[in-house]
Amino acid sequence: MASSGLRRAVLLVVVVALVAGAVAAAADMAGDRAALLALRDALRLPRKSLRGAVPVGTVDNLTALRTLSLRTNTISGGVPADIGGCVQLRSLNLSGNRLAGGLPERFFSLALLEKVDLSGNRLTGGVSPEFSRLASLTTLNLDRNGFSGTLPGNLMLPKLAQYNMLYNGQLGGAVPASLARMPASAFLGTALCGGPLAPCANPSPPSPGDSKGVREEEEDRREMWTHL
Ligand SMILES: *[C@@H]1O[C@H](CO)[C@@H](O)[C@H](O)[C@H]1NC(C)=O
Ligand SMILES: *[C@@H]1O[C@H](CO)[C@@H](O)[C@H](O)[C@H]1NC(C)=O
Repeated sequence: MASSGLRRAVLLVVVVALVAGAVAAAADMAGDRAALLALRDALRLPRKSLRGAVPVGTVDNLTALRTLSLRTNTISGGVPADIGGCVQLRSLNLSGNRLAGGLPERFFSLALLEKVDLSGNRLTGGVSPEFSRLASLTTLNLDRNGFSGTLPGNLMLPKLAQYNMLYNGQLGGAVPASLARMPASAFLGTALCGGPLAPCANPSPPSPGDSKGVREEEEDRREMWTHL
């Protein structure tokens, strides 16, 4: 069991390093057993000049991983769909890359996630109501991306203490009630209104009684997400 975990970790480092074109660094890591064992718990490859898309199957088997940080690289493509395999993941930092498109459906199955930092990428599309499935989130940073549309009115993240949605210029509409306690600075550079920001002008934000409209909107959005 331990050795197969190790083999998988070695494979992962090699694959990641190949993506990066940094084979020499991988050889060093493969020779360092302690580093590889630590990898089962945390994989941190910040500022390693990782380039290109993360190939499918690279992160799928890291089922014991709690921390994944690939921040400040030039990783492109989308957030890898097989991230859903990292079922123990608590902390994910992919900030400062070139990740584009929407978040894969499986990302929202990572119910233990506490910290998510996707800031400074090229992520687009709506902010999915599926975020509410990540009930353990304390930090969610979606700053400096291209998210658009409105925030789901029923977004519910009870443990959230830090939230940043700033500089997503295409994002408008009302701040959901559950995020109204965030400081206004969390929403700078968006067209959002209400909550800590200036009150919304017409049309007024959907009231709780307006559930049909809200539900339809959510269904549209969910449909869009399943197509991404
Ligand atoms: C990942 O797990 C799958 C299924 O359990 C297995 O077929 C595959 O070889 C594993 N990949 C790696 C890189 O170990
Ligand atoms: C993610 O990495 C960035 C860039 O180094 C850092 O500023 C930020 O604090 C990290 N986010 C979290 C949630 O730790």
